[in-house]
Amino acid sequence: MTVLGTDSWPPAPIKTERLVLRECEARDRDVVIELDASPEVGTYLGGPRPRAELERRVPAVPGQRPGFFVVELDGAAIGTLQLDPHDPERAPRRREAGETELGYLFLPEAWGHGYATEACAAALGWFSGVLPGEPVVLYTQTANLRSMRLAARLGFTELERFEAYDAEQWFGVWSPAR
Ligand SMILES: CC(C)(COP(=O)(O)OP(=O)(O)OC[C@H]1O[C@@H](n2cnc3c(N)ncnc32)[C@H](O)[C@@H]1OP(=O)(O)O)[C@@H](O)C(=O)NCCC(=O)NCCS
Repeated sequence: MTVLGTDSWPPAPIKTERLVLRECEARDRDVVIELDASPEVGTYLGGPRPRAELERRVPAVPGQRPGFFVVELDGAAIGTLQLDPHDPERAPRRREAGETELGYLFLPEAWGHGYATEACAAALGWFSGVLPGEPVVLYTQTANLRSMRLAARLGFTELERFEAYDAEQWFGVWSPAR
């Protein structure tokens, strides 16, 4: 097994210095919708989605899949991060780099405090305990400077840049310390 399965999910909540990472629950629905509807969050992700559509489509308990974490600060959700199977349709030639892909979405008011770095580092540490030696890949637009800095802080290294969706994309990989 090289991607997360139900055998390892959900884990006990992961506590960091300031945050808790846990599986998604019904009470997180508003934040999940807010993240997808936010123009700031969607700037480099194809834009925000209409709130009315999200209200119709988002299930009562969103994020019900292995690797989907809600990040909590002082009991309130501030973002989500995902360790999903790398979508082969999106980039079939890049699959050999790693089969799990990291994604992250944080509310704008939570930016600039190191929360995403703290949460993603904890999730990657947990991941390497579940699937030892398994790399993780990441896509981000090069124009998404916050995301580019986050990827670098987490230890992702560049594999390639390419054009897609009318923008330059960065594709990187993280390998656990051996
Ligand atoms: C990408 C994203 C998660 C990055 O958020 P971020 O707040 O810049 O990242 P962090 O939470 O790690 O915070 C790092 C910043 O906090 C600052 N900071 C302040 N206090 C800090 C502390 N106590 N500890 C660490 N860093 C701190 C750091 O200096 C750094 O600022 P800098 O990048 O200007 O140097 C966020 O911009 C986002 O959700 N964007 C929308 C979604 C998106 O584009 N996702 C990409 C999909 S792949």
